[in-house]
Amino acid sequence: MDFSVYLPTLISLFSQCTAQWCYQSQYSCDDTCRDPIRWAAQFPSCGGLRQSPINIVSTKVHVNSALPPFNFIGHTNTINVTVENKGHSAHFALPQSVRLTGGALPGHYRAAQFHFHWGGNGRPGSEHTIDGEQFPMELHIVHIKEPYGSLAEAEHDMAGIALLAFLFEESPDDNPHLDSVIASLGRVKNNASSTVIPNFRLSDIIPSDKDLFSYYRYVGSMTTPGCEQAVAWTLFHRTLPISSRQLDAITQQCRFWTGQPMTDIFRPTQPLDGRVVYRSKAGAALGGVMHWWVGVSSVLLGRTGLIH
Ligand SMILES: *[C@@H]1O[C@H](CO)[C@@H](O)[C@H](O)[C@H]1NC(C)=O
Ligand SMILES: *[C@@H]1O[C@H](CO)[C@@H](O)[C@H](O)[C@H]1NC(C)=O
Ligand SMILES: [Zn+2]
Repeated sequence: MDFSVYLPTLISLFSQCTAQWCYQSQYSCDDTCRDPIRWAAQFPSCGGLRQSPINIVSTKVHVNSALPPFNFIGHTNTINVTVENKGHSAHFALPQSVRLTGGALPGHYRAAQFHFHWGGNGRPGSEHTIDGEQFPMELHIVHIKEPYGSLAEAEHDMAGIALLAFLFEESPDDNPHLDSVIASLGRVKNNASSTVIPNFRLSDIIPSDKDLFSYYRYVGSMTTPGCEQAVAWTLFHRTLPISSRQLDAITQQCRFWTGQPMTDIFRPTQPLDGRVVYRSKAGAALGGVMHWWVGVSSVLLGRTGLIH
């Protein structure tokens, strides 16, 4: 039998149907998965002009006194958190009782989940970089604007998602607040496995409100496909501590859906494409909440006409 006629068809079917997105660390030449520079071929938004993460150049940020502090609601509640290995990272599901207002966000937001981006074997793994420096790990807390119920519903709103980001810095001592998180990752080694952290409080892993006045703000996207351009990003100045022993424990436990060790789970930084990064003026008076947002929206509309 002559297979030569069918082979090209089979190959193209194979690559179209089974190509999954992957991180650079998973990609090898004989692989069919799409590494970050090829995400846009399957997910057009990944090639858009408002993509995340970005490198923040600290001397070029615009200080803005209309960026007030956040109001965190439910962050001290004791909750049961379900942790699931999603194949590309592990998600920690949050109940809707955890909420967020303020911070010049245009509405009320409900928490959905948090997750981490990390490196491996001593390599840094944050997604955002500051003046070109990549940090050991990054925490993302994902919030969806009311009344939307899912990312799909929020996707057409430029601020449909509020993402809070914290960078980690290496500390000599262990951060005991991370112990339950690290232990739970050891129980979700494989794709689709899940576990519960009982009696968890978000306030155990993030600093109290009074340390969170100071942050960067810009408009961007989800950092995994489909790279939906619907995110108001907040990156806090305040970093979180983690020891190298804890970093090793985190990066060595989980596996990708392919079975490979789940390391280096970050997207490379994306071009700013004319966007402005704002920095809150710590201690600025409350008020002017909507003002900041309206200003930024018109800047974006004028520059790119990209608002759907
Ligand atoms: C957490 O789970 C335990 C055991 O299932 C249950 O008794 C408790 O009520 C749950 N707590 C919350 C806040 O849902
Ligand atoms: C990984 O788990 C998801 C469910 O979370 C499932 O849809 C997918 O098929 C799994 N992938 C592999 C390769 O087992
Ligand atoms: Zn993330």
